[in-house]
Amino acid sequence: MKKGSFCLATFIRIVYMWLIGFSFLYFSLVADSAADGCPLQVNPQRVVVKYGGPVSVDCSTSIQHTGMGWEASEGAVPMSTDSLVVTWRVSELTEWDITPYCFINHNMDQCTVTLPVTIYKTPDSVSISTVNHNGPMKEGNQYELQCDVLNVAPAQNLTVNWYKGQTLVNQSIFTDTIKTPVNKTSKLLIRPDRADDGAQYWCEAELELGEEGPRLPPKVTSDPLNITVYFGPIINETKLPSKVLVVRGYTVVIVCEAEGNPTPTISWNLSTNYTVNNKTLTITDSTPEDLHCIANNSVNTTIRYVKVSIQDNYVPIIVGIIIAVVLVISMIFIYIYFTYYKKTRMGHYILRKL
Ligand SMILES: *[C@@H]1O[C@H](CO)[C@@H](O)[C@H](O)[C@H]1NC(C)=O
Ligand SMILES: *[C@@H]1O[C@H](CO)[C@@H](O)[C@H](O)[C@H]1NC(C)=O
Ligand SMILES: *[C@@H]1O[C@H](CO)[C@@H](O)[C@H](O)[C@H]1NC(C)=O
Ligand SMILES: *[C@@H]1O[C@H](CO)[C@@H](O)[C@H](O)[C@H]1NC(C)=O
Repeated sequence: MKKGSFCLATFIRIVYMWLIGFSFLYFSLVADSAADGCPLQVNPQRVVVKYGGPVSVDCSTSIQHTGMGWEASEGAVPMSTDSLVVTWRVSELTEWDITPYCFINHNMDQCTVTLPVTIYKTPDSVSISTVNHNGPMKEGNQYELQCDVLNVAPAQNLTVNWYKGQTLVNQSIFTDTIKTPVNKTSKLLIRPDRADDGAQYWCEAELELGEEGPRLPPKVTSDPLNITVYFGPIINETKLPSKVLVVRGYTVVIVCEAEGNPTPTISWNLSTNYTVNNKTLTITDSTPEDLHCIANNSVNTTIRYVKVSIQDNYVPIIVGIIIAVVLVISMIFIYIYFTYYKKTRMGHYILRKL
């Protein structure tokens, strides 16, 4: 039993050592220059710097070496043989395409660790405009808005956010790998309706710089663009029924109200040669049976037809009949009364005479 466990332990040890040997071989053959194999620690491991801003990165080692330093097109640190930490420091970084690396010479060999640097610049301006169009928009038509971001870097970390009022309506990103500042344009297609009249569009350029970047992503916003939407008149059909009843001798006032942009002009067409330019119309029994309200603006003309029906007024007739009936009944009563009264008085008279 003891012999068996010894054998197993030996086997595990052999496999373990074989694995270590293999990984050593792997690193020395394949990944000779990889950071993992280089006894250097760069801190921080990557930097995000504002253009013209300061930067400072330490490179340290814990082994004996024959020299270490920083190679960079700005702020290079000459090789030093007696220190274990070298610092790459630039007070105003103005080199867009910089690739600093820290190097160390040991065991008759040199290895390096590259520091990824992102240099950003917030845009000089962000502006919004309409493409090939000026002035009010028409409901239902398509328009293109454009957001111009001037002089921003790096483009691949730029996001353009489109807002309508406070609502984010679209976002665009850019894939350029260029590190120097560029001008970028984002476009948005809109098809406004009447509810969008007076809406505010604006765009915002945001730099997404990750954890190493500023705590709040830098943002630059455009001025708002107020849009005016023109639309044809809509007549309020609740306020203007299609049939109007007028009792003879009376008048009815009807109202034609229409919504539209620009504000529609309202007119009533009573016959081919008679037009009333007013929102309200007073109907009498001499008004034609068929008339229509016309609401007009520069976009469209809307018409609503109204049928007028005149109803004879029966009230005087009914009142006359009631009066007649009352008169007749009263006369009957008067007649009965007088006949009866006369009779009894005549009776008395006769009695006295007797
Ligand atoms: C960006 O646009 C501005 C103004 O139109 C121009 O002066 C500048 O040269 C442009 N920059 C680039 C990188 O094209
Ligand atoms: C910048 O954008 C690229 C591409 O989207 C991304 O890989 C990179 O991490 C970003 N840089 C930072 C510092 O966030
Ligand atoms: C039409 O008029 C009615 C009654 O005054 C009103 O309640 C309604 O809001 C109006 N409709 C429109 C679309 O203005
Ligand atoms: C409607 O208004 C436009 C201008 O706003 C005008 O040119 C047109 O003649 C008007 N049409 C009618 C039928 O009133």
